[in-house]
Amino acid sequence: MSSSRAAPLLEVDGLVKHFPIRAGVFGRVKGAVRAVDGVSFALDPGETLGVVGESGCGKSTLGRLVLRLIEPSAGTVRFAGTDLGTLDARALRAERRAMQIVFQDPYASLNPRMTVRQILAEALDLHGLHVGDRSERVAELLRTVGLAPEHGERYPHEFSGGQRQRIGIARALAVEPRLVVCDEAVSALDVSVQAQVINLLRDLQRRLGLAYLFIAHDLAVVKHIATRVAVMYLGRIVELADKEALFAAPRHPYTQALLAAVPVPEPGVERERVLLTGDVPSPVTPPSGCHFHTRCIHARALCAEVSPPLERDAATLGRDGAGHTVACHFWREIAAAGGARVAPPPRPVDARLALLQSAFIASAAAHPEHYFQEVRP
Ligand SMILES: Nc1ncnc2c1ncn2[C@@H]1O[C@H](COP(=O)(O)OP(=O)(O)OP(=O)(O)O)[C@@H](O)[C@H]1O
Ligand code: SF4
Ligand SMILES: [Mg+2]
Repeated sequence: MSSSRAAPLLEVDGLVKHFPIRAGVFGRVKGAVRAVDGVSFALDPGETLGVVGESGCGKSTLGRLVLRLIEPSAGTVRFAGTDLGTLDARALRAERRAMQIVFQDPYASLNPRMTVRQILAEALDLHGLHVGDRSERVAELLRTVGLAPEHGERYPHEFSGGQRQRIGIARALAVEPRLVVCDEAVSALDVSVQAQVINLLRDLQRRLGLAYLFIAHDLAVVKHIATRVAVMYLGRIVELADKEALFAAPRHPYTQALLAAVPVPEPGVERERVLLTGDVPSPVTPPSGCHFHTRCIHARALCAEVSPPLERDAATLGRDGAGHTVACHFWREIAAAGGARVAPPPRPVDARLALLQSAFIASAAAHPEHYFQEVRP
């Protein structure tokens, strides 16, 4: 990391989470699910790190570890310079105000018996905020996410999926966070509604200086919102790079396969060859050496024996010193032999992206009030 880089908001170092597997009447530990297995990265204020990977790769566990909703087995999380592991419960609660989460299904996390106003007021209560002018703050939050103050009197079931996600975002914003973990926050929404919510998240980021850890399956969505992207496989980051570099020239065979495997939603558009075959192996007994060797078309003997370190390419130090890092013994050879030839051109991603982009433009034109709101500093 270069000395010119600003102090990161979030620093994750060697993070590990092994969930014990217990069996028998005495609940003896028989093994462990290695959900997160040595993850390190940094996130700057106002930046969006996309986290991608197949189901079960440890993305949500990483998000929960970052917020200290679960205890790590090893490693540290520093937020604004403070090691969260050193804080007692009270100090951690105070620190958490600055770190919020938005889930895939806001309906499941919104109390159906409370009005939206009560839900937002409860979030303020939790941290003793806006004791006097609460109704004004609730109205302001609703306006910020493109809803009307009158919506505060309604119950969650009276809203559409996209509106409910806006309520989830308003609740996260209520406590004025600096970091928001978005865990599949738009995955359940239609493409046009996804576009509205992503536009809203980007707009809020620009105005409020938020940093996002944006967890998603959908690479086209990540391509739209992320500034950098981390690719996870079986609990480890296998590639981390600026978004442009990652999409233009993916280096890790897993990233190349993920980009090739993106589904194409439009009829008539031909699918590219899907290179990623088989399921993700169990995180209880991950493959030796490079976890990906059982599915990698470039694997050699060394791959099953030695785990490749996450290596930074000195030639790509980039604007902030973060550079392009990859964990593969042979990435240089693969790139020299035309890695892009192995990974089909990113046409499917672009097709999906074109669809999203047209939805962005359409939704911004139809609902300018969602994008040009005033908020109090
Ligand atoms: N509380 C838990 N106890 C035991 N195992 C768990 C627990 N939470 C997660 N796991 C396991 O850890 C692994 C990683 O799960 P995680 O939910 O982090 O993956 P993910 O990448 O978010 O997947 P998805 O894309 O399906 O949301 C999985 O094998 C999961 O079954
Ligand atoms: S280290 Fe070997 S198995 Fe792993 S990604 Fe690279 S070539 Fe494939
Ligand atoms: Mg998940």
